[in-house]
Amino acid sequence: MILNAREVKKSFTESSGSPLEILKGVSLSVENPMTVSIMGRSGCGKSTFISLLAGLDSATSGTIEILDQNLDAMSGADLNQFRARHIGVIFQQFHLLDHLTALENVRLPIDLNGGSNEGDQRALDMLTRVGLSHRAHHFPETMSRGEQQRIAIARVLVMKPEVVLADEPTGSLDIKTGAEVIELLFSIVKSEKMVLVMATHDPALAARCDQQFTMTEGVLTPGLLK
Ligand SMILES: Nc1ncnc2c1ncn2[C@@H]1O[C@H](COP(=O)(O)OP(=O)(O)OP(=O)(O)O)[C@@H](O)[C@H]1O
Ligand SMILES: [Mg+2]
Repeated sequence: MILNAREVKKSFTESSGSPLEILKGVSLSVENPMTVSIMGRSGCGKSTFISLLAGLDSATSGTIEILDQNLDAMSGADLNQFRARHIGVIFQQFHLLDHLTALENVRLPIDLNGGSNEGDQRALDMLTRVGLSHRAHHFPETMSRGEQQRIAIARVLVMKPEVVLADEPTGSLDIKTGAEVIELLFSIVKSEKMVLVMATHDPALAARCDQQFTMTEGVLTPGLLK
């Protein structure tokens, strides 16, 4: 199984000290490369679930396996390494490093994973795939928001992770730019046979995914948000 979340629960402690259960037993399994959307009202727990799938936070109970590895059973260092190689996360904000060029930003995960003689070429290939090879030596702040998100996507995909998690990837882009970014993301995800799990508020975007889910009252059910 590429991704398997079983009965995942997550509670936070309110400022008053009482526990607040956000995820009440969320299950999601993905056996083959495909695209999956998660919709749901603001505050229903989409980002919480995405961060658990990414191993960025741990569940209160339940299990999350990526490529048959239980994330909870891994130590911090092992989890970091596993995440760097197998899980890519795309956020609404781009989180690019301003003092690095586009090429250096995209090459960063390769460098952090022990480097490679072909690091520059791999990063440039990925920049080419997002249509930005001509901006390789430019700095992020000199580029448009859509271009910045394409660099962020190139940086995530350069390691060819099996699982790509996206939390409102077009949330800070205008409609046309968002659509262009999504075209690119979907075409790379499909051609590299990756799994994409995407939280979104955009019904048209969700409808483009192979499977749609809705998060309501802390559980995930098949189908589009009504
Ligand atoms: N670290 C935290 N401590 C306490 N409460 C939290 C924490 N993180 C999230 N929450 C709460 O969990 C709930 C779900 O938040 P989450 O960000 O997952 O929602 P979301 O579905 O992604 O919403 P949106 O569509 O607005 O992005 C919210 O009520 C939020 O306040
Ligand atoms: Mg969110």
